[in-house]
Amino acid sequence: MQKTTILAIDQGTTSSRAILFSASGDILAVRQKELELFYPHNGWVEQDPVNIWNDTLWACRAVMEDSPDAAANIAAIGITNQRETTIVWDRKTGEPVYRAIVWQDRRTADLCQKLKKAGHEDAVRSKTGLLLDPYFSGTKLAWILDNVPGVRKRADAGDLAFGTVDCYLLWKLTGGRVHATDATNAARTMLYNIVTQEWDDDLLRLLNIPRGLLPDVRDNVADFGATDPALLGRSFTIGGMAGDQQAAVVGQACFHDGMVKSTYGTGCFALMNIGGTFRESKNRLLTTPAYRLNGDITYAIEGSIFVSGAAVQWLRDGLGLFRQASESEGLATSVADTNGVYLVPAFTGMGAPYWDADARGLLCGITRDVTAAHITRAALEAQAYQTRDLIGAMEADTGKKIDIIRADGGLVANKFVCQFLADILNCPVDIPRVAETTALGAAYLAGLQAGVYNGLDDITNAWHAVRHYAPSMDVDTRDDLYAGWRKAVERTLL
Ligand code: G3P
Repeated sequence: MQKTTILAIDQGTTSSRAILFSASGDILAVRQKELELFYPHNGWVEQDPVNIWNDTLWACRAVMEDSPDAAANIAAIGITNQRETTIVWDRKTGEPVYRAIVWQDRRTADLCQKLKKAGHEDAVRSKTGLLLDPYFSGTKLAWILDNVPGVRKRADAGDLAFGTVDCYLLWKLTGGRVHATDATNAARTMLYNIVTQEWDDDLLRLLNIPRGLLPDVRDNVADFGATDPALLGRSFTIGGMAGDQQAAVVGQACFHDGMVKSTYGTGCFALMNIGGTFRESKNRLLTTPAYRLNGDITYAIEGSIFVSGAAVQWLRDGLGLFRQASESEGLATSVADTNGVYLVPAFTGMGAPYWDADARGLLCGITRDVTAAHITRAALEAQAYQTRDLIGAMEADTGKKIDIIRADGGLVANKFVCQFLADILNCPVDIPRVAETTALGAAYLAGLQAGVYNGLDDITNAWHAVRHYAPSMDVDTRDDLYAGWRKAVERTLL
């Protein structure tokens, strides 16, 4: 009999989780563990790959124990992950040669600047859809090869493997038998040509990366191999894989040209489906595969903001303004406005559309009567302003007014954020039935491979909104507030 539940692994920046989904996309069980981040130097962000693996395995086992009937009915596993985070490990022992260098890490800013000055950005853009920024894996991998003693030699000898988190987890889950990634994750390395769909020799040469380190690149729906039976009680097929933002595109059923989703996790990432033809953004956004099915890429224009939920985390852990993130809504709405305060959360530089790796956060407009409530409100409002920067660039790129945004991620539990977003964008915002859209997208991909779903129409039909926010702010207020944000950004970029 056809098995129908799906186990989704969602390995994010701040937590590793496993979710069991029913075929109708309902959550049957969920387990998660917070993941430690290390900040060894200014602008550096690292994680321990061993923690990433152990926590993921723990979450899978725990969720299966919680729901044994659903576990017995698993048709396939799907994997989604924080993208760009870079891991190199030994092919024989599985030992990582260095910590995972996290996507937020800025240590290669100088190298990117040097490459930019030498005139390489146009080639990078036309081949990968990306910009020369430390955000992507390529320069992080080059850093490991050039700075960790002995690594270059071992890489040249073919003893090492490189992968983003999806690839590393797949390798571990399959007992070291499969070294593969998917097109959406490969696209974030700055080494993969998203037009010809192959690792690019010119880019490999530019960064001096041996080809032997690289994984095989597959569709998002594919046979990624089977799990080692010793790990989860029996062997499971891994049938779907995608970077978390692309998985959210699938979970949000954004399958048509012009559809937009915006996810508020650690960072905020807005992606607009632009169809099957690659085109470069003219407004400092990225072009990236939204998904690749049967060898055909559907592209998206992406705006990437590095700090979203992480700003709320900072208010909680760094400033101690509240104990739980959920308290931020009550605090923000206890005041009528921010009292002129703006927070530009450029804690790890600024992403789209500014791309300034050296920018750092700014809190401005502070007067004697500013309180924790005003600062909290400013941090939440910043999410809407940052999104407007992106959406404005997307509309300029496509010449089309976006008519609705499908939003998801932890921060959309905050109703104030959702309404303010609709107001500042002057665009309706829909929140989907399943809040875990990223994991759901990975489950859908695996379910397509396992035959639980027949095609994308099944996913479209399952999607519906549970909350709808219509813009209700008058135009002058909106323009004044946004003009204040632009001024604050200008100061940040100085
Ligand atoms: O590109 C980075 C992104 O994939 C991280 O996502 O959900 O951890 O903010 P998240």
